[in-house]
Amino acid sequence: MVEYQQILNTIYERLRVVKNKGEVAHYISELATVDPTNFGIYLNRIKGDNFCVGNWDIPFSIQSISKVLSFAKAFSLQKNKVFNRLDVEPSGNPFNHMALLELENGIPRNPFINSGAIVIADILVSELENPKQDFLNYVRDITNDPTIDFDVKVAVSEAETGYNNYAAANLLKSFGNLQNDVEEVLDFYFHQCAIAMNCKQLSDAFYLFANRGKCMRGIAHLTTNQVKRINAIMLTCGFYDEAGEFAFEVGLPGKSGVGGGIVALLPNEFTITCWSPGLNEKGNSLLGMQALELFTTETKQSIF
Ligand code: DON
Repeated sequence: MVEYQQILNTIYERLRVVKNKGEVAHYISELATVDPTNFGIYLNRIKGDNFCVGNWDIPFSIQSISKVLSFAKAFSLQKNKVFNRLDVEPSGNPFNHMALLELENGIPRNPFINSGAIVIADILVSELENPKQDFLNYVRDITNDPTIDFDVKVAVSEAETGYNNYAAANLLKSFGNLQNDVEEVLDFYFHQCAIAMNCKQLSDAFYLFANRGKCMRGIAHLTTNQVKRINAIMLTCGFYDEAGEFAFEVGLPGKSGVGGGIVALLPNEFTITCWSPGLNEKGNSLLGMQALELFTTETKQSIF
């Protein structure tokens, strides 16, 4: 019997006092205002029990974590057709790296780097009748929580300084890998990244990836084969040029965001979300990485 609550409490007490909490993201001005001392963890077990500690109930900007949810939606709509427009290889580069996109003729390495997520946003803009609202409803639906919403201030603030993403979208367009207008696709993309969720809501949303495609209400949103593939991409590409380090230290598929959230999961066992807004130099939550390393080491539960 694993003492989950005790383990979470110990991790929380140990890391809460760490002086170096990393740097909050500054390139999106709204994110620079978040209190870096926030720290929360929420564990959702497939068996039905759950455990939490700290600021698990404060909503934060999910940022790149949204890329897993947008990819899941596009994958369920277009099946393997999505792979005509992007690859599934780790990039070994930062999330906003551009050079590879040009060298590889506008085919992004994977759906979790920015250019790949922009292609997925383009697919959803084409497929959905009211793209932003329909996607938000999808996130609410899989999480079973109608209160989830966009933080519009964050979306606006990212658009104001989103030069890199404008460059990526324009490059994709020049290679014929963007069907809709750059403005419309980026408006969707900035909004999906600006969804605000807390640790519980993220752990609940990601339940379906640990539960063979079925959400907490038992409804199948993805096939087991699709879930296998999404988890594989999380493991190999979920942390950009730190994916190897995360697999090495933590040993779970997962996804980070520059809002300081990290969600990880062990198939058939649990989902776990950590939030600490300070980032390391690769743009991943500094304490979140450490907390998850301690968690899989203490519980002896990882995919390896
Ligand atoms: O496009 C961006 O730069 C942000 N909206 C998302 C980046 C992000 O979260 C990278 N993750 N660690």
